[in-house]
Amino acid sequence: MSWFYRNALRPLLFTQDAESIHNRTMAMLNWVGRNELVSDAMRSFLGAPELPIELFGLRFPNPVGLAAGMDKNAEALPSWAAMGFGFTELGAATWHAQPGNPPPRVFRAIPEDAIVNRMGFNNLGAEAIAEKLADWKKLGRWPAHPVGMNLGKSKITPLDRAAEDYANSFRVLRPHLDFFVVNVSSPNTPNLRQLQDKSALDEILAALNEVQSPTSPGIQSPIANRQSPILVKVAPDLSFEALDEILELAGPRQIAGIVATNTTITRPPTEDAAAQRVYAETGGLSGRPLRSRSTEIIRHLYRQTRGTLPIIGVGGIFNAADAWEKIAAGASLIQVYTGLVYEGPAICRAIVGGVLDRLEAKGFRQLPPAIGSETREKWIIK
Ligand SMILES: Cc1cc2nc3c(=O)[nH]c(=O)nc-3n(C[C@H](O)[C@H](O)[C@H](O)COP(=O)(O)O)c2cc1C
Repeated sequence: MSWFYRNALRPLLFTQDAESIHNRTMAMLNWVGRNELVSDAMRSFLGAPELPIELFGLRFPNPVGLAAGMDKNAEALPSWAAMGFGFTELGAATWHAQPGNPPPRVFRAIPEDAIVNRMGFNNLGAEAIAEKLADWKKLGRWPAHPVGMNLGKSKITPLDRAAEDYANSFRVLRPHLDFFVVNVSSPNTPNLRQLQDKSALDEILAALNEVQSPTSPGIQSPIANRQSPILVKVAPDLSFEALDEILELAGPRQIAGIVATNTTITRPPTEDAAAQRVYAETGGLSGRPLRSRSTEIIRHLYRQTRGTLPIIGVGGIFNAADAWEKIAAGASLIQVYTGLVYEGPAICRAIVGGVLDRLEAKGFRQLPPAIGSETREKWIIK
């Protein structure tokens, strides 16, 4: 399948503009998701082997998730499980519906296996997305894996009202989802990344905690009473010192984990003229060139927390070797976006299969002992 995708399907798909093909694919996956028989057929081709792991009180059938931004409005929710994903992160959702930046806003740098995007959180808004989620449940098509939501700030909301904006989205979406990711790291909403600053992030997390505090109005129903795990997604461009400041909030604000990383505003050198043109576009870079920086961040976070805070590793994962690098550095779960675009829909099956092989070769019977194994080796030697 991967060979067929790379050599036959992908060249055909890549003749079209990136956002148009994305929209067509999402429409097709929406149809697949509504149709049980077709979903089952897709699962039998693409479903991944089991490699279960428990985190935040949730059971993940395998550690490979869909990264935020692919299914912003929960259009294709059931299809991701059928494609073999062990969890799905929807969104980003913002409190106010918004169109995002004007197109074109997604660009492929094919020779570098990379994408530059400046989507700018185009989405239907938290309330409309909550309705879509309720519809999937009513249809009986809710996936049998954890589903989370990436929360962004509405463009029209000033930075000093950000906490309220995030809290509003959280309040309406919370009853529907298993976990949440506070996205303060997208480069495509003006000044958003300033919210990674410790005091600004502290204010946002306090507001979210308040929404689910036992004294909050309407919290008494059993579903509302459940505490939703809240993770924070960080930029690969942060210094280690800035990351350490974020980690200082983990205990006081009950951060359940860190998603590392979002796209980068930096650009690596490239000789290729087509890639240079894409790199000249404003936006965040994802894919192969992001891989090593995001792994470095994961390694740092794992070392600083001595493995006590779960990390979701994302950035430039295309195959099992890339996934293993992130796991061995300290990621408990991983996610893909650009890898799915370049490697195709059999990517989960390939990654989970390859990780299982590596576990066996290393003598591990489950995933947890492999998490951070290479980072731990280094601190033992030191
Ligand atoms: C077109 C596009 C849209 C994205 N939208 C979001 C988003 O809404 N929220 C978010 O946290 N990350 C978003 N991301 C970042 C991805 O979730 C991921 O962190 C990043 O692309 C690195 O992973 P990758 O190299 O596997 O793509 C987006 C990425 C792309 C390419």
